[in-house]
Amino acid sequence: MDFSFDYTVIVASASVNRYSVPMSQQRTNRTHTCGELGVNHLNQEVTLCGWVAKRRDHGGLIFIDLRDRYGLTQIVFDPAVAGGAAAHELAGKLRSEYVLWCKGKVRSRPEGMVNSKLVTGTIEVACHDLKILSEAKTPPFPIEDEVDVAEQVRLEYRYLDLRRPYLQKNLITRHKMLQIVRQHLDEHQFIEVETPILYKSTPEGARDFIVPSRLNPGEFYALPQSPQTLKQLLMISGMDRYFQIARCFRDEDLRADRQPEFSQIDIETSFLDEEALFPILEEMIQKLWKKLLNVDIPRPFPRMAYREAMDRFGSDKPDVRFGLELQDLSSIFAKSEFKVFSTALAPNARGISGSVRALVVHEKAESFSRKDLDDLTKHVSAFGAKGLLWIKITPEGEMQSPAAKFFSVEEKQALTERLALKPGSLVFIVADKNKVVYDALGALRLELGHRLGIIPKPEDKNFAFLWVVNFPLLEFDDKEGRYFACHHPFTSPRPEFFEDFIHGRNMDALEASAYDMVLNGVEVGGGSLRIYRSDVQAAMFKLLGLSPEEAKEKFGFFIDALQYGTPPHGGLAFGVDRLAALICGVGPIRDVMAFPKTQKGTDLMAGTPSEVTRDQLQELNVMVVKPQKKEA
Ligand code: AMO
Ligand code: AMP
Repeated sequence: MDFSFDYTVIVASASVNRYSVPMSQQRTNRTHTCGELGVNHLNQEVTLCGWVAKRRDHGGLIFIDLRDRYGLTQIVFDPAVAGGAAAHELAGKLRSEYVLWCKGKVRSRPEGMVNSKLVTGTIEVACHDLKILSEAKTPPFPIEDEVDVAEQVRLEYRYLDLRRPYLQKNLITRHKMLQIVRQHLDEHQFIEVETPILYKSTPEGARDFIVPSRLNPGEFYALPQSPQTLKQLLMISGMDRYFQIARCFRDEDLRADRQPEFSQIDIETSFLDEEALFPILEEMIQKLWKKLLNVDIPRPFPRMAYREAMDRFGSDKPDVRFGLELQDLSSIFAKSEFKVFSTALAPNARGISGSVRALVVHEKAESFSRKDLDDLTKHVSAFGAKGLLWIKITPEGEMQSPAAKFFSVEEKQALTERLALKPGSLVFIVADKNKVVYDALGALRLELGHRLGIIPKPEDKNFAFLWVVNFPLLEFDDKEGRYFACHHPFTSPRPEFFEDFIHGRNMDALEASAYDMVLNGVEVGGGSLRIYRSDVQAAMFKLLGLSPEEAKEKFGFFIDALQYGTPPHGGLAFGVDRLAALICGVGPIRDVMAFPKTQKGTDLMAGTPSEVTRDQLQELNVMVVKPQKKEA
């Protein structure tokens, strides 16, 4: 193969919306990309580089679609053009995914051959000089967007999957998004600081990934679940405004919107409260949506208290683009004889009662078969619900339900009025402790929304941003019999709850200065104002069940630091992957990540995690105890 010419790497400029240095002015062996030629280039001699996307051999003429990151250009090998005979002969050898360098003249496509879907669809390049830069094995799947290939195979050959325009477009959008973010935060005096990856546990509610230290036998680093403590230390250092595109590591069960390693736009500020911080963040979001989607997002974003979000939508990240809100029936069934209801409503050992709540479908209710009702019951059981009670109103106005015989006349009447029931209505009820009721009905609401087709689609470009505020500070875990921090243990109580917190009163009612930014049912970011007094922080650790020794072991350095002049501070972190997925209008976040992991946390391409050698383990002073295989 001929490599006699100098093939220099192209450096794209960092400008956000266009490349300020055209290819033709760069020191490279191509004059243009495959995505830019049009009628204003007619008769110019151009050179393009790229991959063979498609090849059509019409005997006399050979056509290929040449693909690069920028687009597709049709190259025609025509022995009749000057110098074209040799190129035409070589073109006979071309196969899918060969990498080419071709020089030729831009000409218009013949009438009827124009492809209006393609930016370059009006022209073609008649090649008179061709070099094959690389041959390629036949790929395991065609590199096209509309090809049905198992995800498994795609991930195994991720580098080929990444040649697909769909994924390339997503990664480019993600890049542009981060450029806009960096520029915006820089304009607002934020400094980008990198923090370590080999560090100590930063609690965000997941398990840690740990790394053994060779130099310190028996000791381990933890990979940061977020740079939380580090960014707070930077505030103590006087950095004032910090940001980082930070890699975070969390060993938790994966879902479509969760990966074990992911990125945050991590932000922290000193001397700002929510009223000063929110506008900076909203403006950033507004810029992203305007520049990347040409959509105007009105400001300020609406705010909703956590309580209201749970009561109306059964979720702390409500999708407010559709109704189907929860209805509280607890007062109607306060004296119910139905065991399921009375058990739920009875106060527990800590004096806290559950509730009876419902969702009502008035339209298309008749389309729910018995099997559908069973499926929905199964669906809510995943969220801890012990059952899903349904009530149907027959065309005659009768109440049909597995529990109808337990309802008194008064209860039936109150129910009919409260829920505006009419023939055809269908009611779904869950009775349990509040957490289960909210989780189950919140999930059911989304499921019903899908089935009824009332949730807007990405192409509708309906973006409902909101802040969910006033989160509870603590959550009691029945199993462990202790409180956990709802956000993380550095979150401050709201000022009006300060006294109660210090004195350990009304723990279940304490509210935090914590907030989430929510878009269309997705938590895109979360943060809080922090505790900045060391005694309050120590009180928090104690309340969370950490002994003074444990607190010192884990966070001693941090409690110490708080004593050396800590400014009031607070911040937030956005999920880069979730934001990018929403901007790209795609579902799973792996579609905006170059090398995502599978549900089991593996990388199929590189084959990791994998075993290491005995020598490596020895050097690290680590012994592996494999779980015993279960006897058959
Ligand atoms: P939090 O844990 O809420 O807060 O995380 C902030 C945002 O990060 C995104 N995110 C994830 N994205 C992909 N995969 C995951 N496994 C994952 N986990 C979280 C979400 C979430 O809103 N240190 C605090 C922030 C702060 O208080 O300033 C923190 O990490 O979009
Ligand atoms: P059971 O008395 O357990 O046979 O339940 C009678 C009906 O109540 C069934 O339709 C169950 O699905 C429903 N059910 C049971 N537990 C609950 C619950 N916690 N909330 C709502 N419905 C329930």
